[in-house]
Amino acid sequence: MKKILVTGACGQVGSELVPALRTRYGADMIIATGHKTKPSQELLDGGEFHYIDCTEINCIAEIVKEYDIGTVYNLTALLSAKAEANPRLAWEVNANSIRNILEVAREYKCAVFTPSTIGVFGLDTPLDNTPQITVQRPNTMYGITKVAGELLCDYYYHKYGVDTRGVRWPGLISYVTAPGGGTTDYAVEIFYEAVKHGKYLHCFIKEGTYLDIMYMPDAVESAIMIMEADPRRFKHRNAYNVTAMSIAPEDITNEIRKHIPSFTIDYRIDPIRQAIAESWPNKMDDSAAREDWGWKPKYDLTAMTTDMLEKLSAKLNN
Ligand SMILES: NC(=O)c1ccc[n+]([C@@H]2O[C@H](COP(=O)([O-])OP(=O)(O)OC[C@H]3O[C@@H](n4cnc5c(N)ncnc54)[C@H](O)[C@@H]3O)[C@@H](O)[C@H]2O)c1
Repeated sequence: MKKILVTGACGQVGSELVPALRTRYGADMIIATGHKTKPSQELLDGGEFHYIDCTEINCIAEIVKEYDIGTVYNLTALLSAKAEANPRLAWEVNANSIRNILEVAREYKCAVFTPSTIGVFGLDTPLDNTPQITVQRPNTMYGITKVAGELLCDYYYHKYGVDTRGVRWPGLISYVTAPGGGTTDYAVEIFYEAVKHGKYLHCFIKEGTYLDIMYMPDAVESAIMIMEADPRRFKHRNAYNVTAMSIAPEDITNEIRKHIPSFTIDYRIDPIRQAIAESWPNKMDDSAAREDWGWKPKYDLTAMTTDMLEKLSAKLNN
């Protein structure tokens, strides 16, 4: 087996995907790379770590050549809220990184995993049971770069035979690393505030706003699963809808109250992130991923809430 390169490794996903890959394939098989975000001590101590800028194709080519990389997990991105604040940088980082990685993958024959997102959909998309193949006309720069990424990955697969695979992740909930500026960050903040203060002031997404959500262990599992799956069964490449639950802020509130009965929430809506949320699916149909490569999440809202509160309490009390 050749080595695995992870880009954007210090972010919300990378900080949990890298340890999982090190455990599964051996620490010396994984080359983690970050950009400006400071790596955690665990990331630094657990194996090889380098800094690279994915908008520079030579940086990627050098590391792929030096370590004889066979697979790239590309996590480099500016997320939705950050991308709306700086659309030009978002295009440069999101679109150029994936194009550079695909070019290097073509030359050095690497497989490429790139996560896409519910942000690739827009108001013209059916928002309930959003199909695998449907209208994708997002009105955010994040979504536009991610649609471009999906199409580029398909292009490199069909034209050059690069083994590109991807999933459309929903909002991800986790306790290791804070989220990087997305629309579903509220669904992480609510747990931190519940444990720290017993109340969540100023939830920026409205009651009744349903979005797909997934707990990080399931997201990590989906990335590894699709890269290990038998590609002969794939009907799609970039990217498969995957989800675990469709929930609104009050659903999380009610679940937290089962553990912290006095928990309270109030709302101060952020119009920018609310508009983004309303343009995203209420619930995706992920039956294609289930049929083609056996996707099945382990965590529902109840299991995720219990685990989040337990792990966060331990972390914050330390
Ligand atoms: N977190 C979610 O809820 C979510 C949901 C759907 C899809 N995704 C996708 O998953 C991937 C990882 O997301 P995340 O939540 O870990 O994001 P994040 O913002 O936490 O991490 C992204 C990382 O990219 C790095 N980066 C920025 N510019 C770079 C550059 N020029 N070169 C190299 N690295 C650079 C940043 O340093 C950051 O650590 C992204 O593609 C994102 O679109 C995330």
